[in-house]
Amino acid sequence: MLESDAIKILEDNWRESFTIPTAKLYPFQWMWDSGFVALGRAAQDIDKAVSEIYAMFSGQWENGMLPHIIFHSENETTYFPNFDFWNCNVNPGAPVSPKTSGITQPAVFGFVMEDIWRSHHQDPKVKKMIEDLLPKLIHYHRFLYEYRDPFNEGLFFIFHPWESGRDNSPIWDEAINRINIDKSQLPNYTRRDTQIADASERPTSDQYDKYVYLLELGKRHLYDGKGIAEESPFLIQDCMMNAILIRSNESILRLGEEFGVDTSYIKEKNALSKAHFLTKLWNEELKTFVCFDLVSNEQIKHKEIGGFIAMFAGLANEEQVGHMVAYLEELHQRGYFLCPSFDVDSPLFDSKRYWRGPIWPQMNWMIHKGLLHYGQKELAEIVKSDLISLVTHLGFYEYFESEKTKVRSLTQGYGGGNFSWTASSILHLLTTE
Ligand code: GLC
Repeated sequence: MLESDAIKILEDNWRESFTIPTAKLYPFQWMWDSGFVALGRAAQDIDKAVSEIYAMFSGQWENGMLPHIIFHSENETTYFPNFDFWNCNVNPGAPVSPKTSGITQPAVFGFVMEDIWRSHHQDPKVKKMIEDLLPKLIHYHRFLYEYRDPFNEGLFFIFHPWESGRDNSPIWDEAINRINIDKSQLPNYTRRDTQIADASERPTSDQYDKYVYLLELGKRHLYDGKGIAEESPFLIQDCMMNAILIRSNESILRLGEEFGVDTSYIKEKNALSKAHFLTKLWNEELKTFVCFDLVSNEQIKHKEIGGFIAMFAGLANEEQVGHMVAYLEELHQRGYFLCPSFDVDSPLFDSKRYWRGPIWPQMNWMIHKGLLHYGQKELAEIVKSDLISLVTHLGFYEYFESEKTKVRSLTQGYGGGNFSWTASSILHLLTTE
């Protein structure tokens, strides 16, 4: 039942060659959503999974960037900021068609492509896909190192919260608050998200002004110029994005060996990334991995879900894993569904508002896999079954309430319904283990 519902959602959200995250709210192809969709899809319809990945790479920039949104249709006008607002052709290396956004998202395609290759290595289509796309994937990782790592630390920066995939997490508050906006300098715009979803579940309008400000800053520097690092008040080495990059680098190294592709660049960079990840992003007081703010030149000291993705990348040592496991077990005992996206004990925690507390399906998928990697079967099982029970009781929503007492009085999840990565994460968990 759950499985057939998941398949139906993915079918309904299919658009010729790719999958939208959800109708109305997100009517285009989003980068990391697309990776998780391909992962879950592969078990059930490999052709569509392969098409999904090719569709993503059709939006790759000459500099190597994979954009966070591909606007496959220029007739769809219900989304803001749409392709015309991004105006990415200020950069001559941005594709003229399809139109795209000018920022990126978590580098999931390495581990996604490897997972699909492992389960379908006899399928010639999959083999061809890896042959065609592995060099392009390396080009993407090279972009992150060449354009986003000015100090050659192996840790790339983001200059917009949307890149992190955790749009309004409190971890970005300080950097966002340091932006002083002269409203008369901002272009006029109208938000569309709050016309479709409940405003109390979405970022505030002040946050949205700052998002638009950072977009404009990127545009001024053609989205890849050196001026971004020099000027942006928001410049952060995200622990989750760098962990995912490392996880995908390792997939590239294994695939490169099997396919005879030169990966020496990735090998060298990955060693650098791993070394700095461990020394720069672990916080001994909080006993978790954290992000690093390159403007204030200090760690962002909050406990949040991105730190746990280090386990998915196999980066944490046994002691660090022990701390993270103890913390998640404690939350479980205290009546939270796993894994809340932000520190439940912080005054900034909000169990309903987007990335400030709720449960996110694809995060549970990665944390589940990370815990299994370290032999933490029991806790991995809780992370999986919490997600399954939320979806069973509340439906295939974008994200979910994290406090168990509150869930009892709810009849649905939060944000968009019939959500693709919720369906694909469930499908992958149910069909591949
Ligand atoms: C929101 C999420 C982001 C996701 C996108 C499409 O912006 O924060 O992670 O990729 O929606 O689902």
